[in-house]
Amino acid sequence: MLAELPQQAPDALLALIKMYAADDRAAKIDLGVGVYRTDKGATPVFSAIKHAERRLVEEQQSKAYLGPEGCMEFVESLKPIIFGASLASSTNIAGMQTPGGTGGVRLAVALAKAAGVAKILMGVPSWPNHAQIMDDLGVPLVSFGHAREGRPDMDALRAAIAAADAGDAVLLHGCCHNPTGIDYTQEQWQEIAGLIASKSLLPILDLAYQGLGEGLEEDAQGVRTVMQAVPEALLAYSCDKNFGLYRDRVGALYVQAADEAGLARIMSNAASIARATWSMPPDHGASAVREVLKDEQLRADWRDELASMRKRMHEVRGVLAAAGIVGTIDMAPLAQQNGLFSMLPLASEQIVALRERHGVYMAGSGRINIAGLTLGNIDNFIGAVADVTG
Ligand code: LMR
Repeated sequence: MLAELPQQAPDALLALIKMYAADDRAAKIDLGVGVYRTDKGATPVFSAIKHAERRLVEEQQSKAYLGPEGCMEFVESLKPIIFGASLASSTNIAGMQTPGGTGGVRLAVALAKAAGVAKILMGVPSWPNHAQIMDDLGVPLVSFGHAREGRPDMDALRAAIAAADAGDAVLLHGCCHNPTGIDYTQEQWQEIAGLIASKSLLPILDLAYQGLGEGLEEDAQGVRTVMQAVPEALLAYSCDKNFGLYRDRVGALYVQAADEAGLARIMSNAASIARATWSMPPDHGASAVREVLKDEQLRADWRDELASMRKRMHEVRGVLAAAGIVGTIDMAPLAQQNGLFSMLPLASEQIVALRERHGVYMAGSGRINIAGLTLGNIDNFIGAVADVTG
């Protein structure tokens, strides 16, 4: 019976990790999966996290179960960073820990489905796992074009919302859009918030890269604007990138409800879905984040390290943009984009040629991980793009 299951293709993005590892060319360049890299190509553990982990080893008294909501001190300590002082103290917002941001997205979609959401609007391209999660949970996706000519396609978004029914959900990337790097301006967020509110849609906000775009505060403005405009919202959060905890799977789901009684009911559903899905989230990474955020010095170190990552990615974007037209590709817009990713308009044969001829690994969509470029390899990358598109 089990043997009758059809063969599934491996996840295309995660398959790149193995393909890259198997390539023995010294000059290979990894622009695939979204992990930050230093100018030396390393993905180190944040120094504040290392300190916190040492402290945990010395001082943690127990690893007994906490329950499906995980560590509430972790969940609470992130609130001011995500929501700012005024929203953070709202008694209409509660959260629970999830295994990575993916766990947060999954729980958000499952809750929306349980509440009767019939379809979810989402700009495409998007992170491939968004559609995969909706498909797996059986919630239909209604897609619209996220961007046109390097800018958010507001006409497509307006049309999608106009055609939606009250009670539909809309999934939006809070910042550092994955895969395009094309984010909404604050004015556009204001308009989106108004449209969502007037159509009574449920926003599902995915904030997976806070601090990697313009800054911790700036990157959260959009989701705050939406949440202030609506009674109910779901926000999936990831610490995987901004605390460098990728494989420790650290995330959360926050829920905003119209009143406290409703919030308690919604959270009881979230806890019950979590229990049936992963029972309880892993603790170690979340505990390390909690330790960082409760210690003034470690918190400052973390912010500084995040700022230096942001600065490096802006510098890489600057170098790419300065290259201007490379082969057939205009690199200039990359300076206006945000976060780890941008998309190059490459045909699939060109992406294969980049990999085979030049050892440059990127997603099949043409998405590149900006942080995979360093002063040591960026000229080779630009030369390779010129070669395959020229
Ligand atoms: C990515 O888009 O590269 C990351 O979010 C990693 C992942 O899980 O896909």
